[in-house]
Amino acid sequence: MKECVVVDGIRTANVRAHKEKGWFRNVRPDEYLIKIYEELFKRNSKIDPEQVDAVFCGTANQSGMQNDIARLAWLAGGFPESVPTNGIGQQCPSGMSATEHAARAIMCGEGDIFIASGVEDMQKVPMSFAIDFPPRLMERYKFEDIPMGATAEKVAELYNVKREDMELMAYWSHKKAVAARDAGKFANEIIPVEGHKEDGTPFMVDRDQWIREDVSLEQMATMKSPFKENGVVTAAVSSPLTAGACALLLMSREKADELGYDYHIKYAGGAMAGCDPTVMGIGPLYAAQKLLKLTGKTVKDIDVWELNEAFGSQSLAVLRELGVAENAPFDNVNVWGGALALGHPLGESGARIIVTLNNIMKTDYKDAKYGVAMLCGGFGNANASLWERVEK
Ligand SMILES: CC(C)(COP(=O)(O)OP(=O)(O)OC[C@H]1O[C@@H](n2cnc3c(N)ncnc32)[C@H](O)[C@@H]1OP(=O)(O)O)[C@@H](O)C(=O)NCCC(=O)NCCS
Repeated sequence: MKECVVVDGIRTANVRAHKEKGWFRNVRPDEYLIKIYEELFKRNSKIDPEQVDAVFCGTANQSGMQNDIARLAWLAGGFPESVPTNGIGQQCPSGMSATEHAARAIMCGEGDIFIASGVEDMQKVPMSFAIDFPPRLMERYKFEDIPMGATAEKVAELYNVKREDMELMAYWSHKKAVAARDAGKFANEIIPVEGHKEDGTPFMVDRDQWIREDVSLEQMATMKSPFKENGVVTAAVSSPLTAGACALLLMSREKADELGYDYHIKYAGGAMAGCDPTVMGIGPLYAAQKLLKLTGKTVKDIDVWELNEAFGSQSLAVLRELGVAENAPFDNVNVWGGALALGHPLGESGARIIVTLNNIMKTDYKDAKYGVAMLCGGFGNANASLWERVEK
């Protein structure tokens, strides 16, 4: 089997999905996805778009502007018709699935150069937009248990995750994200794309919009749950509605060597797991357990973790049940902050956490041998992937 290495990974800033306040409110998702592809080729000019074997693109809600955005954005960007594209839908893990599809194709020898990407604009294509639930699904589950916020409340209750612990997690997520941003840690991954400030002034958006400098435990304690009367899952401990795009350039190790590209990590395995959709947030526990078993590793072998913070409740339940950490601040989990602060554009995040993991393993965790990225997904699909430092 061939080895699949990460040659590059970039993203837009993650911005608010809000029709008055969102910095990309006037930019379509296909447009900023195209910008990401263009920049990927600019930064890696030893390859032409024609050489790409295929482009995978994850998107959770593939309707409206995001209907086959994989193909339509590629063509709209003027890229070669001869390069096939494949839209991947697995709710939040879509971007990770896209990356794994590309990695597996490389390892099987089906090609040497692939793009794996993810995109979601939760303002222009809202979460529930155009969904027509199967009536028989509603015989199997209660409709009110299916929305994401309801599942987060249920996980908090079932796994006894206290509101204060979730707020502490959100607090540290923002603190770490502020520190990482101010130290320039995201400079290698965020590509500036033109957007508009809240007052309408155009500007190059080069930073994540949801990060809060003024995060306060006292203020968070006053917030109410929008999901349940007297509930514990507030907006502060939920990943916010976000827009953004991300792409990775993956190659077989031999192609990367032939072209003289540098790389640090390779794909070392992936595992998907399904679970009860009414507690979908616990899914990464099963995906990570399956991944560790499959690859012969234990939690102790993993030096650094990226867990998508869909909600504080599910993140803490997963980390505790897995035996990785009890409470924030965590040592080696989401070291540059997580989705509570950075945002979570559904189909983008699975690719984004791999891009960030790559950059963390290139800089702050230079000695780390193994990193795991994992995330839950709406309706009970989760995904986890293992990334290994390449011995050179
Ligand atoms: C929780 C949720 C319903 C809130 O959405 P909303 O009501 O549209 O509100 P916003 O996200 O705009 O936030 C509400 C307010 O709380 C504020 N807020 C959020 N976090 C805060 C914090 N930590 N401290 C202070 N204020 C905070 C926001 O800034 C906003 O106020 P503003 O407009 O004055 O800035 C929404 O973010 C949500 O559904 N999140 C989950 C998304 C999801 O399910 N993803 C998939 C996971 S699998």
